Amino acid sequence: MILNKKNVNLFKELIISERPLNIVVDRIEEDKFIDVEGNQYMDLTSGYGVVNIGWKNKQLLETIHQQTNKMAFSPPWLATNEAIDLANTLISISPNSLKKCCKTLSGTDANETIFKAINCYTEKKGVISYNYSYHGGLHFALSLSDSLRYKFPKHATSKDIHLVDPPYCYRCKYNKTPDTCNLECMHSILQLLETRNDISSICIEPILGSAGVIIPPVAYYEQLKEICNQYNIFMVVDEVLTGFGRIGKMTACALYNINPAAISYGKGISSGYIAISAALLNAKLSDALSNYEDVSSSLSWSPLACKVAKANIDIIIKNNLCTNAAIMGFYFLENLKELFIKYCYENIGEVRGIGLLIGVEIVKTKLCKEEHPLLVKKFIITALKKGLFVCASWDFSTIIFMPVLSITRKEINHSLKIIEEVLITITRNRVSY
Ligand SMILES: Cc1ncc(COP(=O)(O)O)c(C=O)c1O
Repeated sequence: MILNKKNVNLFKELIISERPLNIVVDRIEEDKFIDVEGNQYMDLTSGYGVVNIGWKNKQLLETIHQQTNKMAFSPPWLATNEAIDLANTLISISPNSLKKCCKTLSGTDANETIFKAINCYTEKKGVISYNYSYHGGLHFALSLSDSLRYKFPKHATSKDIHLVDPPYCYRCKYNKTPDTCNLECMHSILQLLETRNDISSICIEPILGSAGVIIPPVAYYEQLKEICNQYNIFMVVDEVLTGFGRIGKMTACALYNINPAAISYGKGISSGYIAISAALLNAKLSDALSNYEDVSSSLSWSPLACKVAKANIDIIIKNNLCTNAAIMGFYFLENLKELFIKYCYENIGEVRGIGLLIGVEIVKTKLCKEEHPLLVKKFIITALKKGLFVCASWDFSTIIFMPVLSITRKEINHSLKIIEEVLITITRNRVSY
């Protein structure tokens, strides 16, 4: 641990970063991370929902090589065929309502750009967003996120943001079950729209990932769509984590049949091989934004980034990775349920998932439902010691599994063996957690 420890300390001294673990990774070999001391790690996070097509995809590496030789960068005011190809592809896989793309660089950037466009369209400044949600680490995107619960830095724009509870059925505030639910959690949205006239939009994380994989019921979005129409507000869908096959469909909008006013894409758009993202807008918003100069980043949508993103999406489609995510996700979910029930029944709040986005919510007891971050951290650290990367929700209430979408049954079985060892280790000799 000498090299790892020394370099992690150096890293922390020089770079502000989120919760670095005590290892320094050096390279990937045969889909495994190798750290500076030569230890191997299998990754069940795909780099926090980024590397959808898998590591070191040969076709993508070849595309990078060829496009770098052809033209890596061009000035932002020049058109390229690579950008046209990518825009066409993005529009073709997105809901019909979306007509134009904005060139952006990260998920945060895409969300910021959408609200820039909304500000160009209307004087109304109010936005509804969800408690528990995460939309990015910069000014407006951070205001849209649940910064109180997750201790994000303070920001200035929050007075216009109205956070409401998402449909978090496991922790339903109205003590309803799916049988008795009348979508009571929609009331806070309705109340805001009835009492204020400054609300322009609602920003949703369609399945809340960083909060611990909260999956709203279909009926919820059916009603939300009606409400958005009735009150004439823009529905903005943040697909940064859910997009490009993660949930077994190309988008959460396809899953819930949503035709939003805007979508933000990031992460899986290029599987992390290069930094790029996109915001797609409907005609009203793109017209409004087009009245002004384009002030996107000089670095966004370089020909190299566009080519990589387009090739990445082609690979997702050609290799049926959405279907693989749906099938493997179901298999993984069922087996995880079995294992967790076998080894820590009393601590399982809920095991839930869709495609390869799976959360295991851990509680002190089934009855009290109190969160148990200590046990979640113990699971993650023990998994790390056994050569497995697993991540958690922001508040460590839920263990999150989101492997690459190309994962095979054999690889899942291998992961399950290590997970079983982790569960045996953390539950051995315990009196009570
Ligand atoms: C739903 C969602 N939106 C936005 C972001 C921010 O994306 P980025 O880290 O690329 O800025 C994230 C990142 O985790 C996310 O999960």
